[in-house]
Amino acid sequence: MTTSAHSDHLAKVTSLLKSGQAAQVRELIDWLKIPSISTDPEYAKACRDAAQWASDHLGASGFQSSLRETGSKDSPGHPIVLAHAPGAPDYKGPHILFYGHYDVQPADPLELWNSPPFTPKLVDDPSGKDGPPRIIARGAVDDKGQVMMFLSAMRAWKEASGLAAGGVKMTVLLEGEEESGSVHLDSFIDANKAELGACKVCVISDTGMLDRGKPAITYGVRGLAYTEVILHGANQDLHSGMWGGKSPNPISELVKVLAQLWDKDRRITIPGFYDRVRPIAQSERDEWNKLGINPSEALKKIGFPPDANVGESGYSFTEREWARPTAELNGIHGGYTGKGAKTVIPSHASAKVSFRLVADQDPVEITKAFFKWCNDHTPPGCRWELIDHHGGNPATVKTDSPELAAAARAIERACGTRPALIKTGGSIPVAGSLKSKLGLETIFMGFGLDDDRVHSPNEKFELECLRMGTMSHAYLVDELLRM
Ligand code: BES
Ligand code: MN
Ligand code: MN
Repeated sequence: MTTSAHSDHLAKVTSLLKSGQAAQVRELIDWLKIPSISTDPEYAKACRDAAQWASDHLGASGFQSSLRETGSKDSPGHPIVLAHAPGAPDYKGPHILFYGHYDVQPADPLELWNSPPFTPKLVDDPSGKDGPPRIIARGAVDDKGQVMMFLSAMRAWKEASGLAAGGVKMTVLLEGEEESGSVHLDSFIDANKAELGACKVCVISDTGMLDRGKPAITYGVRGLAYTEVILHGANQDLHSGMWGGKSPNPISELVKVLAQLWDKDRRITIPGFYDRVRPIAQSERDEWNKLGINPSEALKKIGFPPDANVGESGYSFTEREWARPTAELNGIHGGYTGKGAKTVIPSHASAKVSFRLVADQDPVEITKAFFKWCNDHTPPGCRWELIDHHGGNPATVKTDSPELAAAARAIERACGTRPALIKTGGSIPVAGSLKSKLGLETIFMGFGLDDDRVHSPNEKFELECLRMGTMSHAYLVDELLRM
């Protein structure tokens, strides 16, 4: 096909997308109504419906799309949407793998939502008095809204050119277990190595921008090791007057042990924890300093004063999120938590403990080292029950590939600004798996904002971000066709 035919198609694509935003929002609202909470088996049917919805959308845009089952009888999984666009006969660019996830986090605490999480609310007051136009729903930005940008761009290219993905050779993988640890993803990748391994690079839209109107390409995500530790004491709950002070209280003992996870410099004390951590290159530090990130302003948005800027000493606010590992307590439970008072020493207490990891840390190794550390710190008379929930590898991706340059050009053409190169503290386990299993690099082009309330009540996606992301995906097709 000639370049002028491409530009004719592109002009049609951009005009279709401009005139089609209201319809796009309606479609997204339809999808957001399906409560595809992957962690809760009650919602298995909803997960399947959400997968089918996306598969049908891709099918109508000319993709060969189907649901692939995952898991087994003992370990049931949610389906993966797998779709193909064969590519035009004269397509010479790279075979793209697009990855996204259709599952969402649980909506609770429900009482903190201002509108029901699965009754998407469009706030679109032209006066702007209510704040920027946005869609509020669970999954609005993570990740249905961001996958929608891609789906709409694919729809427009099909309408404009008659070809699936406008003639780009493409495989689409939409996962339904990203928010619950991607339990069946690795075995799916293993079982479909030939099909997925034919791809050259993966594109994921599940990250954020630097700020409003400041698009970004993310080149690193952290890994995760998620555990639960239960400290068992007496074989029964006890009267705290009779037994306090003469036998161990599992809650007090648990918090004393866990408090030792950090030293006075807020460094993690598990032996060997930092062994594989790659140091931050001075060139990276310099680049990050130029981004103009203001810690005090960022903290203010979530209600903190400037002196809340705490973390591992010797590293900046941004470095601590992007390039340093952390330990977090995500939940702690024990004893009496109901109304009023109860003088009890419980038989056990538990905590959810997770670690964000950076290259080249390994979640399996870290979990093992943490469990050994727990055993080495067993309070007298007590016993641990140690549970490994799930993990994911960190991933740092190449920034000098021709595909990443094409994505950057696409974003610049769509948004009028060059994307910044950033990292994120969040985790997207598929990137590490694609890299280690298939040698695939990933390009994260995401359009979320820091205050989108990802995983929280009143999650939102701003329509301006939706527009920028949709146009960026449309231009990406054009850039790939020119390669
Ligand atoms: N989309 C997020 C990851 C993310 C969050 C990237 C914020 C950039 C900014 C993803 O859906 C997510 O929540 N991942 C989990 C992974 C876990 C469940 C294995 C996370 O980071 O906690
Ligand atoms: Mn996500
Ligand atoms: Mn998420």
